[in-house]
Amino acid sequence: MKTLIAVDEKGFYGNFGGAYIPEMLHPNIEELRDNYERIVAEPDFQAQFKSLLKDYVGRPTPLFYAQRLSEKYGAKIYLKREDLCHTGAHKVNNTIGQIILAKKLGKKRIIAETGAGQHGVATATVCALMGMDCTVYMGKHDMERQRPNVERMRILGAKVVPATSGSQTLKDATNEAMRQWINNPVDTHYIIGSVVGPHPYPEMVARFQSVISEEIKAQLLEKEGRENPDLVIACVGGGSNAAGAFYHYYNTPEVRLIAVEAAGLGVFSGKSAATTALGKPGILHGSKTLLMQTEDGQVTEPYSISAGLDYPGIGPVHAHLFETGRGEFVGVEDEDAMLAGIEVSRLEGIIPAIETAHAFAALNQVKYKSDDVIVINLSGRGDKDLDTYIKWGNY
Ligand SMILES: Cc1ncc(COP(=O)(O)O)c(C=O)c1O
Repeated sequence: MKTLIAVDEKGFYGNFGGAYIPEMLHPNIEELRDNYERIVAEPDFQAQFKSLLKDYVGRPTPLFYAQRLSEKYGAKIYLKREDLCHTGAHKVNNTIGQIILAKKLGKKRIIAETGAGQHGVATATVCALMGMDCTVYMGKHDMERQRPNVERMRILGAKVVPATSGSQTLKDATNEAMRQWINNPVDTHYIIGSVVGPHPYPEMVARFQSVISEEIKAQLLEKEGRENPDLVIACVGGGSNAAGAFYHYYNTPEVRLIAVEAAGLGVFSGKSAATTALGKPGILHGSKTLLMQTEDGQVTEPYSISAGLDYPGIGPVHAHLFETGRGEFVGVEDEDAMLAGIEVSRLEGIIPAIETAHAFAALNQVKYKSDDVIVINLSGRGDKDLDTYIKWGNY
């Protein structure tokens, strides 16, 4: 079979990817690149990874037939319940993989960035589990709007350091984590939380998240007698839950891949994070990708009501999916996401994370047939977002 989506040995998906890093980080990235494929392929790694995903994370997560949502939208809608993972979101699939890798590389300290705090909590969790020192960088603005997650990280023993530059959100936290890694290159592993960063991070994170679509295939076969849905829908911040949900379908063109970005107050309002609609090729956090930027190449401050989607770029694999037309990209505004979050709560008894609510809102924007099977990746639960739901108030 012709492979449509694959990464080359330099970390490029078509025109996007690579490793654009300062000299100081070369040894770290080289060490990771030279060892990760080998370590991940080892039976011992695989055994530990699978055992922790099963007994600690609680995998496989259910594929739930959402009857009332299906009736409302006139299609067969299944929810992949990543909200039921330990810690409440898909992020932990990746942190389990990376912490085992870090141990095998002999690292002593872990650093991470976080936006919504879910990746920070997932990192603090695996560091507690493995007895590793943990520091998480988080935008000051995000620390305020995702306060429960800040306290969870602290209870778990992590140090949370505010990033105070720019819009004080995910981009700024990532800048800070990268700076810290440059200062502590030898004993520290940087657990990046999405399919972003220099090669091999985007492919590594996608592989750890690919368990999502591996399970969807088996579960759909059992429930529908076929492995392939007609559509898979997932929200995209950096793009890790989408990459995991799409992974085993990249090269199955009959499965439509719907990637949902945050359009904030409107794509062209100046307050948005709709990268594919607004972005141009550029370098962000070590890889070439689509990036919201000014005429002279300065990164534009993004905006979204959801901290996890409030990022001016997307992972290189998604830039490639966009450029080749393999992925369909949709922008969802704050208000529509919030309404969708309430609708799912009322119809299915599940309060989704506001990131995930964007994926649900896309049901109003994409066309599908009445007998289509749609899988929505329910990337996380809404507990962390209660403050935002309450402030919005329209329920
Ligand atoms: C529940 C949830 N979904 C989605 C995202 C977006 O990240 P990604 O695009 O890497 O899946 C986040 C980020 O924090 C999140 O917490």
